Formats: sequence, C-alpha cells, structure tokens
Amino acid sequence: MNNVLFEPLTLKDRVIKNRFVAQPMEGNDADKGGAPSERAISRYRELGKGEWGLVIVEATSVVATSLARVNGMILNRKNLDAFKHLLDAYKTANPGGCLLFQLTHSGEQSGAFADKTSLAVEKPAHRYLSTSEIADIRDAFVTAALLAAEAGADGIDFKMCHGYLGAEILRPNNVRADEWGGCFENRTRLLREVVTELKARLPQGFILGSRLSMYEGIRGGCGTAGAGEIVEDLSEMLNVIRLMDELGMDYVNVSAGIPALTGAITRPTEPSKYLALHHLRYTKTVRELIVNEQRHLKVVGSAYSSHRAKSLAVMEEMLTKGYTDLCGFGRQIFADPLMPKKLSAGEPVNWCVLCSACSRLMASQHNDGCAVYNDFYKQELKTLT
Ligand SMILES: Cc1cc2nc3c(=O)[nH]c(=O)nc-3n(C[C@H](O)[C@H](O)[C@H](O)COP(=O)(O)O)c2cc1C
Repeated sequence: MNNVLFEPLTLKDRVIKNRFVAQPMEGNDADKGGAPSERAISRYRELGKGEWGLVIVEATSVVATSLARVNGMILNRKNLDAFKHLLDAYKTANPGGCLLFQLTHSGEQSGAFADKTSLAVEKPAHRYLSTSEIADIRDAFVTAALLAAEAGADGIDFKMCHGYLGAEILRPNNVRADEWGGCFENRTRLLREVVTELKARLPQGFILGSRLSMYEGIRGGCGTAGAGEIVEDLSEMLNVIRLMDELGMDYVNVSAGIPALTGAITRPTEPSKYLALHHLRYTKTVRELIVNEQRHLKVVGSAYSSHRAKSLAVMEEMLTKGYTDLCGFGRQIFADPLMPKKLSAGEPVNWCVLCSACSRLMASQHNDGCAVYNDFYKQELKTLT
C-alpha cells in the first residue's frame, strides 16, 4: 500500500496517523432526546477499529428544536454521559485516534416535525429568526463546543455547509438588515464570534475546524459573487478561508452543494460521478491559497467515495501533488468502516457502489447505513414504499 496515504500529519499538536478522514455521516438513530444510541456508539467503535486518521462524528445539533432528522443527535448536558460513552468506545478501539464532533443547527433544513426556521430570506413555510434568536444560536454553538471538550472530544467541526444554518448565514443572498446579514462582516459574524469565544475558553490543544460548501449551486448561494448570481465565483469563500486562518482555526473541510437541493454536487452518484472532479478542483484551489499565502490551515477534501475503487489512486495523486492534506470519505465509511486498517493489512475492501440507499433511508427518516453490506439496513430498505 502506498506510503503517502499512511504518512502521519500534524494537526495542531496531534499526530494524525494517516490521511484517511471519516467524514460526518448521519445515521438518524439517536435515542429519544438525542443521546447517541448503542447502535450509534458501535458505529464509532467500528471506525476506531478501522484506524481512520481522523473521525468526524455526524451532524450533532446544538439545540433540541431544529433537527433535520427525527432521530438526530443533540449535544446538551442531559446527553453528555452518552457522548462520553461514544468517545470511550472509540478511544478504546483506537487509543491514539482523533475524534471531533460536527456541530450544527439545521435552520431551514429542519424537518417538518421541528422548528423550521429561515434566516437569510423570509420564506412562507419557515419561521423567520429574530436578531436575538440568532445571538442565542451563537451561544448554543459555544455551549455545545464546551460540552464536546468536557466529553473528551479532540475538537469540533463547525458545520457551515450543505444548506444548514451555518451556510445560510454566509450566503451573499443573506440580505438581513440587522448585524447578521448584508455585508461580509455581518455574514461571517457567527463564525467569528463563536471561534473567538472558544479560543478564549477552550484548552490550547482543542481542534477547531469548519466544513464549507465552496459552491452551493443556488442563486445567491455560497460560492457566488452576489445575491442575484448563479455563476460560480469562489472569491468570497476564499476570503472565508482566510478569515478562518486569521481566527486561528486548524482546518477547513472542503465540500460543496446542498444535499436537499443540489445533492448531486455534494454526493455524486454513478450518473453524476464527474461532479466529484469539482471537489478536487475546490480542494486544490484552497490548498494553493494556503501554501501561497503561507497560512497554516490544514485541508480536508470530500467526495472520495464517488471514485469507488479508484479513490486510492485519486487520493495518492492529490496528496503527492500537494493538492490536499487529508482525504475525506462519506458513504465509504458506511460500506466499510474498517477500510484503512484493511488496506494496511493488504485485505480486500467493500467498496461503496454509490447506490444512494443510505441517502434514501435518511431522507425518509429511517435509521440509515449501508444497505449493500449490512443486513440491518438491507431490511430497513425493504420497508421503504
Ligand atoms: C447518509 C448520509 C449522511 C450524511 N451526513 C452528513 C453529516 O452529518 N454531516 C455532513 O457534513 N455531511 C454529511 N453527509 C455528506 C458526506 O459527509 C459526504 O460529504 C458526501 O457523502 C460525499 O462524500 P462521499 O462521496 O465520500 O460519500 C452525509 C451524506 C450521506 C449520504
């Protein structure tokens, strides 16, 4: 197996054992109240056994009210012991491993069963958030990150991608007239204020990163030059990355699209597989900026499962040419949570076939996972009409 994939990397003061990242993947299987269930905990135990260099726990809500999945995880004090249990299971399986929690507020992507809010522009089926409610959400992100540290997590991934609230607020079409909208400074206020407070209150070694959609594929979305623009223009998103670096964050997780609206961009399938090439371009562009401007942020790329068995060759090329630091796999972690360990032992891997069954299960609010290699999800899939 090629060494470059297994070369260690320093992230903050941690040594990441290899370049494989288990991207956040919602399983929609928390217990009532949002605590990680035994099923969820065993998913992270398996990822520990799989020896992924970095594991980012699935989207975990900072509030109990705005969930996209009916069984989504919620990080609050009531659920802290269950999150500690998850960490324990992971660290026992992989003592040197590095595990982050992805923190989110689902905003306009919240389910019909939840408080469906809007922030950037008023929408008929959504409740428009007031100025002070957004300040409360900022505080909820800080509180959840402090709880993540208390639980023993190595850091957090601030979810500012995929159309959730963190992305809504960044968009050029966020034309709110208050301090949370309009100019770039206001649209990045949430990121700035949360990170500044966390830097002051968290231990030095705690890792802070964020996942961004470089281009969302909607008018006025992230990756466009203005509220009325649909054409991709990365200038402003590159300024977000400069800001992250200046705030002293540690990595940027480069993604794209909005699964609910432009899902083929986020997670290409067989007919749309060439969209995965855009992810490689975004990652290279971001990494070049960081190198050319002598910045320190590390770069994680996305959508590697889309290349199926060729993903290792793509990964090798991206790493060898210096176009990324780390390579993130989403659906592949469901197909084979043991992948890196198997590769280093020369064992065969179960490759994701891009069938979209996990996405279909998730979209229909079932527990979701791999319906090709895992009998439980095969059965779940049969119950879909
Ligand atoms: C079932 C499912 C759940 C997902 N959950 C999350 C999530 O919690 N947070 C996130 O940022 N992305 C999530 N994603 C997106 C993946 O992390 C990843 O970006 C996407 O699947 C493309 O990468 P891949 O080609 O390696 O699968 C999810 C995708 C799927 C299919």
